[in-house]
Amino acid sequence: MIPKPLILSVVGARPNFMKVAPIHRVFSSPAFTQLARHQIVHTGQHYDAAMSDAFFHDLEMPEPAYFLGVGSGSHAEQTAKVIVEFEKVCLEAKPALVLVVGDVNSTIAATLTATKLGIPVAHVEAGLRSGDRTMPEELNRIATDALCDYAFVTEKSGVDNLLRENFRHDRLHFVGNTMIDSLHFALPKARQSPILHDLSLEARQYALVTLHRPSNVDDAAQLQSLVEMLLETAETCSIVFPVHPRTRKHLERFGLLGRIEEHPRFILTEPQGYVNFLALMMSARFVMTDSGGVQEETTALGVSCLTLRTTTERPITCEIGTNILIPPTTENIRTALRKALQETTPPSYTLPPLWDGKAAERIAAIIAQECLKR
Ligand code: UD1
Ligand code: UDP
Repeated sequence: MIPKPLILSVVGARPNFMKVAPIHRVFSSPAFTQLARHQIVHTGQHYDAAMSDAFFHDLEMPEPAYFLGVGSGSHAEQTAKVIVEFEKVCLEAKPALVLVVGDVNSTIAATLTATKLGIPVAHVEAGLRSGDRTMPEELNRIATDALCDYAFVTEKSGVDNLLRENFRHDRLHFVGNTMIDSLHFALPKARQSPILHDLSLEARQYALVTLHRPSNVDDAAQLQSLVEMLLETAETCSIVFPVHPRTRKHLERFGLLGRIEEHPRFILTEPQGYVNFLALMMSARFVMTDSGGVQEETTALGVSCLTLRTTTERPITCEIGTNILIPPTTENIRTALRKALQETTPPSYTLPPLWDGKAAERIAAIIAQECLKR
């Protein structure tokens, strides 16, 4: 009997898990398993339990079939390790298609490996562009889209960007957002989460903060000015800050951790699991972040989001009106925070087109019809 074609999906860093989980679920359905097998490859770019295992649990994903264990390192080291290890997997497993998501180092490394072996690559969340080439993610997005064979796009700007870059029209599909599929999946559990109670919080009485972009947290002066702004905000509003490991490392290195740990209205936590983080997001008065995914999730939830960046690769979130870009200087942040603290009602909003929880189903249908039949 000829074995069914194999699809390998590559995950590595925290935001990858939410994007692949719904795809895995659809690929596991009886209709799809008749056509193909699906396995998950975890590069190990993120490896702390709170940055990896927690999401497999919350999103009900199976253990990865392959774990590459690449860990942290410089961009070159990390990317190169994924390439070397993923090539071995591709040579052994001979996938018919490799599926990559997002814009992290694991995404471009797996794309480069597979395309050089002549294996077709599908990129989920293709076409997003911040226009800022100082962001490592922007370089990963451009390079991944230049190489991949199929583009699955979350918002219209992605379609426009890819057409401008001459991506093949017939291989470009506007399907919606699998990250929002995961949100739909986990919302019932988030509504049952004890996290607000555990942290002694009341709905809409706190701000939720996440920071991890190198431009905000790797520079001592920039991180210090952000910490000052957060301390100022904590005078009037409780702050919950699940700290990304990159950020914790720099808060410690720059001697800033003690000041926020000591503040009575500052709740510093480890990175939260997905369900608890959703629970914190949906009940927050507002969210302050530099995350890509959090801009999208707050848009889907109708929660006000202040994004501490000069650009976004997700312009739909600003067009819908839930998200505001705040170029992160002290004065800009102070003004935005004052305004956010005065708002008494959540923003009015509509859902972006196709952010309906069914993106993975569309992707699977297209893969079944097009990618597996070539
Ligand atoms: C990576 C992605 C970024 C994404 C983010 C999501 C790239 C270039 N960057 O950034 O696009 O937004 O993930 O969270 O791919 N560390 C740990 N434990 C871990 C993982 C990391 O302690 O499990 C620490 C290490 O000190 C490491 C640092 O965090 O050096 C940065 O990790 P890395 O994966 O290189 O980049 P992120 O900042 O996490
Ligand atoms: N997230 C989480 N726990 C946290 C912080 C974020 O589960 O403590 C989730 C968030 O809901 C979103 C994803 O992680 O689904 C975003 O990942 P991150 O901000 O690390 O990366 P980015 O989206 O910026 O690449």
